[in-house]
Amino acid sequence: MQGKIIVVTGASGALGKVVVTTALAKGAKVAGIDHAATTIKPTTERIEFGGVDLTDATEAKKAIDAAASHFGKLDALVNIAGGFAFETIAEGDPKTWQRMYALNVLTALNASRSAIPHLTNSAAGRIVNVGAMGALQAGAGMGAYATSKAGVHRLTEALAAEWKGKITVNAVLPSTIDTAANRASMPKADFAKWVRPEELAEVILFLASDAASAVTGALLPVNGRV
Ligand SMILES: NC(=O)c1ccc[n+]([C@@H]2O[C@H](COP(=O)([O-])OP(=O)(O)OC[C@H]3O[C@@H](n4cnc5c(N)ncnc54)[C@H](OP(=O)(O)O)[C@@H]3O)[C@@H](O)[C@H]2O)c1
Repeated sequence: MQGKIIVVTGASGALGKVVVTTALAKGAKVAGIDHAATTIKPTTERIEFGGVDLTDATEAKKAIDAAASHFGKLDALVNIAGGFAFETIAEGDPKTWQRMYALNVLTALNASRSAIPHLTNSAAGRIVNVGAMGALQAGAGMGAYATSKAGVHRLTEALAAEWKGKITVNAVLPSTIDTAANRASMPKADFAKWVRPEELAEVILFLASDAASAVTGALLPVNGRV
């Protein structure tokens, strides 16, 4: 990743933070974008854009253009911003379906559309999305979330086909990530089986690297030991 310029969305979240620190440790320069406010001061290696709503196309473009302008170019976009909801169809709110679509599909769509004009100037343009194993077959309570992540899978395939030979576009499909939030909501689970954020970051950054030049349109399960 030495010298690569990477934009990471959802950079303040559980997975996003680990992807940012792992990419920096591998010699990349990183722009993080998130809803959450940031106190991190810009350096030549890192800049954070807080308070950005990526469901808004104008806000997404402003942040991504500012990232490209800070570093002079972009090589990779890692779309991590997203959200989760668990509710049955009978007892849930139909608005949850719109919210999941906005958080998971529109954020990745807006960031990708904004990044593509910059990524086409890179010798190795990359987009890596985060889908979900849980979107391959929806269980009870997973309808809205799984539908939205299935949308991320289809977005990945369509972008890969449209930019073949210019930008690779792939998605990782985690099962349950070992985060503090998941430990709190599933205290009796065997955490050792879950995929650690550090393990997932390695797969994401492989897909963002020169080494993954021949992989595009892939939906790669990263299911830890489940
Ligand atoms: N955790 C799991 O087990 C699991 C499994 C499969 C897939 N995934 C996917 O992996 C990704 C990361 O998960 P995570 O556990 O790290 O989630 P997380 O801790 O909730 O982090 C997601 C980050 O994205 C930000 N975000 C959400 N909507 C945004 C928007 N409209 N604009 C800008 N930023 C936005 C959030 O900010 P705010 O909180 O301030 O809104 C948060 O900082 C997500 O896409 C998730 O769906 C997670």
